[in-house]
Amino acid sequence: MTSITLQVDLAERSYPITIGEGLLKDDALLRQHIGSGQLMVVTNETIAPLYLEPLLAKMPSAHSIILPDGEQYKKLATVERVFEALLNQRHNRSTTLIALGGGVVGDMTGFAAACYQRGVRFIQIPTTLLAQVDSSVGGKTGVNHALGKNMIGAFHQPASVLIDTDTLSTLPSREYQAGLAEVIKYGLICDADFFVWLEDNIAALMARNQAVLQYAIARSCENKAKVVAADEREGGIRAILNLGHTFGHAIETATQYKTWLHGEAVGFGMIMALDLSMRLGLIKASELRRAIGLIAAAGLPVSAPDNLPDTDAMMALMGMDKKVLDGQLRLVLLRAIGEAFISNDFDTDLLKQTLQQYL
Ligand code: NAD
Ligand code: GLY
Repeated sequence: MTSITLQVDLAERSYPITIGEGLLKDDALLRQHIGSGQLMVVTNETIAPLYLEPLLAKMPSAHSIILPDGEQYKKLATVERVFEALLNQRHNRSTTLIALGGGVVGDMTGFAAACYQRGVRFIQIPTTLLAQVDSSVGGKTGVNHALGKNMIGAFHQPASVLIDTDTLSTLPSREYQAGLAEVIKYGLICDADFFVWLEDNIAALMARNQAVLQYAIARSCENKAKVVAADEREGGIRAILNLGHTFGHAIETATQYKTWLHGEAVGFGMIMALDLSMRLGLIKASELRRAIGLIAAAGLPVSAPDNLPDTDAMMALMGMDKKVLDGQLRLVLLRAIGEAFISNDFDTDLLKQTLQQYL
């Protein structure tokens, strides 16, 4: 079994990311990364029948809790169930929580670990492509509130991230493609060579070729680790990881999160962010065309869903973004493929033109 190990450099909070096939079958690796002592595996009802039993067989003393599946359960009441399980099983401050699942399980488990007895260790075992290239790395944890997505949370870094690429074999295509949007994001924001590599390898990625997939995951994690190491708490540069998200979140909110997966909204939002960058004279029309080509080749939507509200209403929804500072909308824009920056200095009429063109 070959594997790649990267490091997220955050001084005393540094941790490894190990990527490879069959990691969950590797006793020595699991012992080394997870450790012994009290363990609580947190997963959901979809992932449990696929991956929980074999993992528990390797850690006979571990407890586990199976949560309901779905973004609608990413809320405090569900995290409360994790606390109850920990307290019922008398877990103490030296316990380790293990998140086995996608971003929803990972965000909730990380948040439970940040809060339980004022903070305990946790490990990420991400099982969606989106979680493997994005949410499991960087320590953003939390839950949704009825009044806003990801509004309650904490920064709490994992002690280790174990990415077993075999788990992607059971991931539905639509979820896999949504994860590809975040992979493409790294090429667009900070890695032009990777963007070209993705253009050349998108067919192999769509076919889930293992070698190509491992490379894409590793390169994505490497890019994310660099950004997080530079700005752990999003005081500045980390916000570039949100390319397309302000546009995407507005669409998700307008459609009550029912029409598109998050990655699909991000893919389309990136097209809109690049369109605005082009209108501002920052990137060339050919760069926008290449991005649309790659996003389409990844099976992601390149035209808006039906029945969106008008441009002013969409602008108002964009104004609810977490990046709004002192009442001013800040957007992630590109100077070139591979060169993102954050700006509040753009002509609102051009933004309206982008919204009119795409929505
Ligand atoms: P998800 O966790 O809901 O997983 C998607 C679906 O796939 C679920 O039904 C899940 O049960 C299923 N699934 C997971 N792994 C599977 C597998 N191997 N085989 C079959 N089915 C599997 O969604 P997601 O896209 O992984 O994560 C989205 C969440 O991540 C959102 O809540 C978002 O806010 C969050 N997020 C967090 C960060 C961060 O930095 N913390 C970054 C991006 C997104
Ligand atoms: N997914 C955005 C971040 O981790 O900052």
